[in-house]
Amino acid sequence: MDNYSHLHQDCIPKLEMNVDDRIQDIHKSRWIGYPAAQDAMHKMEGLLCHPRVSRMPNMLLVGATNNGKTEIVKRFCQLHLPDESFDTENLITPTMYFEAPPTPSEADFYTHILCKLYERVPASSIAAKRERTMSVLKRIELKVMIIDELHNILAGSSTKQQHFLNMIKYLSNQLQVSIVGCGTSDLLRAVSVDPQIQNRFPPTIIPRWKYNKSFRQLLSTFESVIPLKSRSSLHSPELSKKILAITEGSIGEISTLLNTAASYSLRNGREFIDLESIQKCGYIGPGMRMRENVNAL
Ligand SMILES: Nc1ncnc2c1ncn2[C@@H]1O[C@H](COP(=O)(O)OP(=O)(O)OP(=O)(O)O)[C@@H](O)[C@H]1O
Ligand SMILES: [Mg+2]
Repeated sequence: MDNYSHLHQDCIPKLEMNVDDRIQDIHKSRWIGYPAAQDAMHKMEGLLCHPRVSRMPNMLLVGATNNGKTEIVKRFCQLHLPDESFDTENLITPTMYFEAPPTPSEADFYTHILCKLYERVPASSIAAKRERTMSVLKRIELKVMIIDELHNILAGSSTKQQHFLNMIKYLSNQLQVSIVGCGTSDLLRAVSVDPQIQNRFPPTIIPRWKYNKSFRQLLSTFESVIPLKSRSSLHSPELSKKILAITEGSIGEISTLLNTAASYSLRNGREFIDLESIQKCGYIGPGMRMRENVNAL
């Protein structure tokens, strides 16, 4: 009898569900704590524990698109939710996730923060918005402010980019909060223009996956959380090299490919992922998608 030793024990009951429900379940979001993600989480924990000083430590979380940055910072916020137990009026909120506005607009950023906190947004000047934002963030005792998609600032002139980065530095200094800016490698370029900003925001890189032990370990972990009755041995050289080649090494693509291949297998009455399901499931990798789009023009 199979003891499903390739699966995480929480997944075993899911094998009892009907095929449609199993396919739906496979596409639900999941968290895998791979080493670069754990390292980034550990650094953010360090920021959270840091005493409030006049020059707070900050960080940039940088990586290719679809490579897990947002999942990491959202997970971190999820682990540090406001304590609702004693005062629901004035929630103490140690970490908050914000998205940078599509262009580097200070006013839009304050509006976004205030709306997210269900606060009234002053309609008057930027100064009034800034003052209200500062007072609200002080009140909730924010400690780590996460700003995702910070590379959006590149959509503005270099003066506006500089202005936005100075605003972030100002918030960090005045509120004594640590800022985690997330973005693609373009962000490094934007930040490198000003040494004062650059030295306050050391980058932590989430690298693309390469063919090594860690990558094969990642595939084994995926295999353990995608509930199929038989072992696929995704970490085998044959499958792992193929998976890396077509996904180009981003965790988002790897996840999509494996979910699609697992669903294809289930729909075809099979309980494992093999080369055939990878090739026939309908997944198109980023390189091929790009070529198809160019050809369609
Ligand atoms: N730790 C993880 N465990 C399992 N799956 C993950 C993990 N991190 C990311 N993924 C998968 O990768 C996808 C993309 O991740 P995410 O949105 O965090 O990328 P990103 O780096 O923020 O991309 P972008 O720069 O385009 O915003 C997720 O939707 C999820 O399917
Ligand atoms: Mg993201």
